[in-house]
Amino acid sequence: MNSEKLKIAVLGGTGNIGEGMVLRLALQNLMPDGVKNEIIIGSRALETADEAAKGALSELENCGFDTSKITITGMNNLDAAQAAEVIILTIRFDHVLPLLEEIREAIENKIIISPVVPMVKEEGLMAYRPPVEGSAALAIKKNVPESTRVVAAFHNIPAGKLKDVVKCKAVHDALVCSDDAEAKKLVMELTRHMGCLKPLDGGPLKQANTMESLTPLLINLAKLNGLKDLGINFS
Ligand SMILES: NC(=O)c1ccc[n+]([C@@H]2O[C@H](COP(=O)([O-])OP(=O)(O)OC[C@H]3O[C@@H](n4cnc5c(N)ncnc54)[C@H](OP(=O)(O)O)[C@@H]3O)[C@@H](O)[C@H]2O)c1
Repeated sequence: MNSEKLKIAVLGGTGNIGEGMVLRLALQNLMPDGVKNEIIIGSRALETADEAAKGALSELENCGFDTSKITITGMNNLDAAQAAEVIILTIRFDHVLPLLEEIREAIENKIIISPVVPMVKEEGLMAYRPPVEGSAALAIKKNVPESTRVVAAFHNIPAGKLKDVVKCKAVHDALVCSDDAEAKKLVMELTRHMGCLKPLDGGPLKQANTMESLTPLLINLAKLNGLKDLGINFS
């Protein structure tokens, strides 16, 4: 890490799970053991990113948190990737590879976190549709510079629970996999302080397909059984 505070870019942080990630990461600055950080929300449009950053800060204020130690700013995706040490890709799989091409030089020697699940809707239910590489994580690995360390995480965490920073007391297991031990350790540490997650080591990156494939199952179970925001607990 280059600085005292870890600079984390959440690309597509204007969206559903991105919003929850931003709030949970920002709150770590108020926890004694949390990973101290500065958050940069990335968007295709600077204006949208700025609005999302202001929105996240006022959401935390409205929930009664002291935001004086929290930094959330907005940038376009390329500037956000350039400014950060850790980059979270909270965008849909269809848009991931073109974005990686755009930010390729900015992600040299950095950590990329993928919660990306390639899936399609078929006859009203979700189905896992991995690319030829075997998983979104392996496709991402193939399309980043060799120096970029890829960590797959957060696939099975419902956005609704991440966003509900006040009421959500559930703690779900969060599987993390990577071929880089140091990067995996950092992501597990970030996960441990999210307030609603317990990190579990999921092994090397080639295991990401097993993690990604659980998400359509969770969405389908929720739909078929009238449930909401299902997560996983292995016990
Ligand atoms: N939602 C969940 O509960 C959940 C849970 C686990 C994993 N995931 C994974 O997380 C990722 C994001 O899911 P989401 O539900 O948060 O998605 P989302 O809300 O539909 O989209 C996230 C962001 O993607 C950006 N975007 C849209 N089109 C784009 C394009 N053509 N190029 C680049 N960026 C584009 C948008 O940001 P701008 O318009 O600001 O650019 C948008 O706010 C997915 O891969 C999903 O599989 C989601």
